[in-house]
Amino acid sequence: MQKLVIEGGSPLRGEIRISGAKNAALPILCATLLSRETLHVENVPHLKDVTTMLGLLAQMGVGITLDSSQCVALSGREIPNPVAPYELVKTMRASILVLGPLLARTGRASVSLPGGCAIGLRPVDLHIKGLQAMGAEIEVENGYIKASASKLHGARICMDLVSVTGTENLMMAATLASGVTVIENAAREPEVVDLANCLTAMGAKISGAGSDTIEIEGVDELHGARHRVMPDRIESGTFLVAAAASLGKIKLHGARADILDAVLDKLSESGAHISTGEESIFLEMRDRPKSVSIRTAPYPAFPTDMQAQFMVLNSVAEGSALITETIFENRFMHVQELCRMGAHIEVEGNAAMVRGKEHLGGATVMATDLRASASLVIAGLVARGETTIERIYHIDRGYECIEEKLAQLGAKIRRMA
Ligand code: EPZ
Repeated sequence: MQKLVIEGGSPLRGEIRISGAKNAALPILCATLLSRETLHVENVPHLKDVTTMLGLLAQMGVGITLDSSQCVALSGREIPNPVAPYELVKTMRASILVLGPLLARTGRASVSLPGGCAIGLRPVDLHIKGLQAMGAEIEVENGYIKASASKLHGARICMDLVSVTGTENLMMAATLASGVTVIENAAREPEVVDLANCLTAMGAKISGAGSDTIEIEGVDELHGARHRVMPDRIESGTFLVAAAASLGKIKLHGARADILDAVLDKLSESGAHISTGEESIFLEMRDRPKSVSIRTAPYPAFPTDMQAQFMVLNSVAEGSALITETIFENRFMHVQELCRMGAHIEVEGNAAMVRGKEHLGGATVMATDLRASASLVIAGLVARGETTIERIYHIDRGYECIEEKLAQLGAKIRRMA
C-alpha cells in the first residue's frame, strides 16, 4: 500500500490552483442519467471517487469520453443496466446519487446499500422516504435498494435532517416528475447550488437552490448542456489551514472566498492575515496561531469536512479550544493518530478539547478517512522530524495531486510505494 513521507518544518510558501469540487462533480456526473443527450462537464478533478463514478455510469450504459484533461462528455442515450453493484458502491458512498436519476429516467433502479464508513453509519433513509413520497415503490433486501416507479409525481417533502446528497438525489428525481416538488429543510451547500445550475442548464425548472426550500417543477425531458464544476471549497480550506499551521504565506488561484466565510472567519480569529480577490484567496500567518473553538453544522455554518484540519491547527496553537462535531457520530478517528504525534486532545462524546503545544513530533500514522488523512498531512508538515502516513488511498479519493501541490509550496513530501 502506498505511503506519504513528510519531513516537517518547512513553512508553505507560493501559489497553487484549486481543482474542481469533488462533492459538486459527483452529483453533476449523475445528472447525465436524466437526459438522452450529451452533458459536457468541465473542470472535473482527477480523483479516485470521480474515476469510480465514471466507471459506475459506464457499466450502466452511459457513453463517456474524456475530451481534454479536465473535461468529460457523457451520453445517457440508453440506460440498459440501471444497476449500481456492491463492488462499486462499497468503495464510494456517493454512488447512492444514481438512485433518484435512474428512477426518474428509467422507472427502475437496483442500487447497493452504501453501508457505513469510518465516520459513521450514514443511513440513506431520507433518500428512500423522499422518493417514496414521490410515488416510488422501494424494497430493501439482500443489501440492495430495489426501486420502481411508472412515473414519479411531485410531492412536498420535509427532510427530517439536513442531508446534502439526500437533497441532491430528490432534486434530480423531481426534475422529471409530473407536477411540482417542494423540498423543505433542504441542504444549502454550494455544491447543491452548482448541481441545480447544471440541471437548469439542461432545462430543469428549479427555484430556491441555496435556501432551505427548493421548488422543482417537473418537465417531460432534459436536454444536453455544458457545465463547469465550481472550485473545491474544502481543498481551498485545507491548503489555507496547512499554510496557517506552518506559518506560511500562500495564494490560491481559482478559489471562491464567498463560499468559505465560516472557515475564513475562524482563520482570521486564529491570527491569519487574509485578503481575497474575485477568484483568489491570500493567507499569511506571521506568528503562532491562537486556538479557535469550532462547532460544525450545515452550511453556511462551519463545515464538518474542515473539522479535522482545524484539530491540527489547534494542536499547535496558543491556548486551548473545544471542537464540537454535530454532523457525524464518529468523526474523531484522527484524534488518536494526532495524539501519537504528541497532540494533547481529550474527547468526550462529540466534543474534543484541544490544548495547543509548541510542537508535534513526526511518527508513522494511519489514515482512516478522507479528511482525517488531510489532517495527518498537515500534522506531518508542521511536526519535528519525519512522518509516514499509511493507507493514503483515502486521501487520493478527494485531493488531486496533493503531494505535487504541496511540493510546489515548498513541502518536503514524497509518495512511497
Ligand atoms: C455529504 O455527505 C458530503 N459528501 C460529505 O463529504 C459531507 O461531510 C456531508 O455531506 C456533510 O456536509 C458528498 O457530498 C459526496 P449528509 P452526505 O446526508 O450527503 C444523516 C467528504 O469528506 N443522514 O448531509 O452523505 C447522516 O448520517 C464527505 O467529502 C441520515 O440520517 O451527508 C449525517 O449524520 C464526507 N439519513 C447527517 O444526516 C439520510 O438519509 C448529514 O449527512 C441521510 C443522512
